[in-house]
Amino acid sequence: MNFNDELKARTAHVNAVLRDYLPQEKGFQKTVIEAVNYSMEAGGKRLRPMMMECTYQMYGGRGTVIGPFMAAMEMIHNSSLIHDDLPALDNDAMRRGRKTTHKEFGEPLAIMAGDVLLNYAYETAFRAFDQVLKADDPVSGYTRVAEALRVLAFKSGINGMLGGQSCDVEHDGQALTENQVEFINKTKTGALIEGSLMIGAILAGADSDQVRKLEEIGSDIGLAFQIRDDILDVTGNEQETGKPIGSDVRNKKTTYISLFGVQAGRHKVEQLSERALGTFDSLNAEHGFLRQLLEELATRRK
Ligand code: IPE
Ligand code: IPE
Ligand code: MG
Ligand code: MG
Ligand code: MG
Repeated sequence: MNFNDELKARTAHVNAVLRDYLPQEKGFQKTVIEAVNYSMEAGGKRLRPMMMECTYQMYGGRGTVIGPFMAAMEMIHNSSLIHDDLPALDNDAMRRGRKTTHKEFGEPLAIMAGDVLLNYAYETAFRAFDQVLKADDPVSGYTRVAEALRVLAFKSGINGMLGGQSCDVEHDGQALTENQVEFINKTKTGALIEGSLMIGAILAGADSDQVRKLEEIGSDIGLAFQIRDDILDVTGNEQETGKPIGSDVRNKKTTYISLFGVQAGRHKVEQLSERALGTFDSLNAEHGFLRQLLEELATRRK
């Protein structure tokens, strides 16, 4: 299968897995669940769960224990996007080619939907314990799920995505140093990508040295991913990205691009991507699709 066909097939597969874990729209709290599902079903590239499943397969994982974690990671990502678009944060009206959650459901429900999704992510990830109970070796299964939960929580929290997002929004309109911008990018965006690559490998039983290398790859790819996002915020096309161009300038964000320009940004993305692929090649495991996916991200248009 060529890369584009495999990308399509893998995206469809991730969507099918996600559908299995979405909450049912019922009860007096039905509307907030509709808001959650509105965001989760809006599409998106599904890169984080896709990467997670790739590293799971790369280390020989074959079971269903990965499913709850794939869904949980995408839920945490979506929670971050719903809040990121709120008027108090980036104040954006469009995401994935449709109205942002607060534009569709109002601010109070969008705030709650973000909270609900973050919590539901853990409710979902815990369901992995039910899967390992059925396996041949439940003790090692339990240990792996516990470690994967630790990574999921850590990479989402104050030292990861939420820390970075907080630092980002606190400094709108302020000058930042390159080090500060790098911290923000590595945490708000890099951390979930690191976590995704790590969790797949952990659940498949990869050793700690391999997991540490995947964390390094995730850090480089994640930083490059955010710089590429910032480039697209200047040079992109709303039809392709599905979100407003010029959000960063409007919010007076200091980004790698506002500091050094688009050309330097492209160069940095290339350098980081090459380094990540070098580290990838030093792993004693192979996955042609994941390698190509990581490579393609450097020049993505959406
Ligand atoms: C958008 O992430 C937010 C950033 C971290 C830059 P994606 O570009 O992965 O968004 P979707 O999930 O494909 O919509
Ligand atoms: C946000 O970065 C990254 C998140 C963790 C949500 P941006 O604010 O640049 O993401 P977009 O451009 O709105 O997707
Ligand atoms: Mg933002
Ligand atoms: Mg934003
Ligand atoms: Mg952006």
